[in-house]
Order: sequence, then C-alpha cells, then structure tokens
Amino acid sequence: MTLSQFLLSYSLLIIASIALLTYWITRRFVLKKVNRKIMKAEHNYQQQIADLQSRLSSKVHMLEGMVEKLQLSNQELNRLNEIRSKFMSVVAHDLRQPLSSIQGFTSVLMMDHHTQTNQAHATTNPDQVALNNILKATDNMNQLMADLMDISMIESGRLKVDAQPFSFNSLVDDVFTLQLVNAQKRGIFLYKHDYPKEITVVADRFRLSQVINNLISNAIKFTPQKGKIEIYFYAQNGNLTLKVTDNGAGIVHDEKEKIFQKFHQADNIRGLKKQGWGLGLSIAQEIILAHNGEIGVESAGLGQGSTFWFTIPQQIAVTTTAH
Ligand SMILES: Nc1ncnc2c1ncn2[C@@H]1O[C@H](COP(=O)(O)OP(=O)(O)O)[C@@H](O)[C@H]1O
Ligand SMILES: [Mg+2]
Repeated sequence: MTLSQFLLSYSLLIIASIALLTYWITRRFVLKKVNRKIMKAEHNYQQQIADLQSRLSSKVHMLEGMVEKLQLSNQELNRLNEIRSKFMSVVAHDLRQPLSSIQGFTSVLMMDHHTQTNQAHATTNPDQVALNNILKATDNMNQLMADLMDISMIESGRLKVDAQPFSFNSLVDDVFTLQLVNAQKRGIFLYKHDYPKEITVVADRFRLSQVINNLISNAIKFTPQKGKIEIYFYAQNGNLTLKVTDNGAGIVHDEKEKIFQKFHQADNIRGLKKQGWGLGLSIAQEIILAHNGEIGVESAGLGQGSTFWFTIPQQIAVTTTAH
C-alpha cells in the first residue's frame, strides 16, 4: 500500500465516522425534538376535536329539546284549532234556530202591516222599513252562519263532494234566475250567454251552485248602478269552465291571490267591505279544489272590472273529500 492509498482510506474512514456521528446526533436530539412537537400537536388537535364534539353534542341535545317543545306546542295548537272549529260550528248551528224564528215572525208582521196599511205607502212606512231592515240583517246573519259552518267543515276535512250527474246548463239557469232579481234591484244589467249544447257534469250540484251564486253576488255587490255583468260557460277537452265578467270595482294585482284567503277583503270600495265577511271566495276555492279544479280572477286594475272564473273536470271521482 502506497502512502497516498493509505491517506485516502484513512480520510474515507474519518468521513464515514463523521457521517455516522452526525446521523446519531440528529436522531438523538433533533428528531426526538421534532417527534415530541408532533406528538404535542397531535394531542392538542385531539383535545380540540373532543372539545368540538362535546360542544356539538350539547347543541344537538339543545335542538332535540327545542324540537320536542315545538312538537308539543304544535299538538296544543292543533287541539286548540279543533276546539275553535267545533265551537264555531256549534255556535253557528245553535244561532240558526233563533234566527229563523226572528225571520218568521218578521215576515208575519210585515204581511200584517201590508194588509193594514196602504200598499202604495208600504215602502215609506217607518214600520215596514224597520221590518225590512230586520229581515235584511237576519239574512246576512244566516249567510254568515252558513259560511262559518262551511269553514269549520273545511278545516276539519269534513267537506264532502257528493258527485252526481246533472245538467250544468240548468244549474246556471237556476242561479241566474235567482240572482236576476238582486241585479235588477240594484239597477245592474245581468246577462247569460247560453251554451248551444247540453253539458252534463258529474259533480256536486249544491256546492257548485254555492260557488256560482257567490261569484255573481260578488259581481253585483262590486258593480255600480247601470253596470253590466255577463256569465259565460262552455265545455272543452273534458273540462267545464264558467266565467263571470263585470265592469265594476276591479282588483289590483297584489290582491288577486289574497282575496281567496279567509276573511280577506280588498280595499277596492271601502263602504262595501262591511257588507260581507270575506269568506265566500275562500269557500268557493275549497269547493273547486275538492272538484280537482282551478279558480282565479283576471282584472286590469281598480275601476277596470274583473273576470272571475273556474274550471273543473266534467266528471270527477264519485265521492271525494276536501283536504
Ligand atoms: N267582482 C268583484 N269585483 C271586485 N272585487 C271583488 C269581486 N269579487 C270579490 N271581490 C273582492 O274579494 C273580496 C273577497 O270576496 P268574498 O270572499 O266573496 O268576501 P265578501 O264578499 O264577503 O267581501 C271582496 O271583499 C272584494 O274585495
Ligand atoms: Mg262574497
């Protein structure tokens, strides 16, 4: 071995020893320190997770408590709603009896007066006027009682649709004849456009007459003297449509949906708000929905008149219940 070879091996040995020493020092001190830091961070992290978990479970617990309370108050609300509905129906039912007695006695008194007084002065006679007012008031009360009973029936899901086949043309005729008198009394021109063919429907005649009566009586109420109301109806693609168009008060856009809600009356003619309770259209809507139909209104705005319409299938399932 030459000197240079010996030196080279010797330096390689020294370098290897230094490398080993460096590795040992790094492992012993630096890596251990890093390891300790990592473990500490992991520990902190786990603690934070545990903390978050306990906060989350306490929130879940709180939410569960709130849901339970909400369910209880919901049950209570349903119970109170049922009581209110029953109360409304009982009161409305029990008030009808004395009301019809008042109506009966008033009619008798009116007839007595009529025969005693001169027929020509019947409308100006103060007694007759008073008796007439009593009759009108009891009529309104009767209508309200009937509406309240319907509302309570609808709310408790007891509104039945008794579907039978009948001629829709003759139903419109009947309602028209009844309402013509009211329109004439108010100096309003009521016109019916007859459909050239007989339309047979399978539906609830009484309930549909209620809807048509309401639409026409509303039109009469919200149309000024010398105004015009027209009734159209037709059958198309298995559906039946009826429209009542008037040139009266009209409805602003924002109110078009609201007027179908219970007790809602639009501000179109302030004085007329008092002549009603805002129940007719909501009942009409429930009846039409129970017939799987649609009801709505079109109006260009205040003073522009309105068109109320409904569409139902010509034939609905034989007996269904609303809601
Ligand atoms: N033909 C109509 N023209 C203008 N407004 C109407 C007409 N029909 C109904 N309305 C509006 O819809 C509201 C609700 O009608 P309704 O439910 O029948 O209740 P009511 O007749 O007792 O007021 C009415 O108060 C009125 O503001
Ligand atoms: Mg009405």
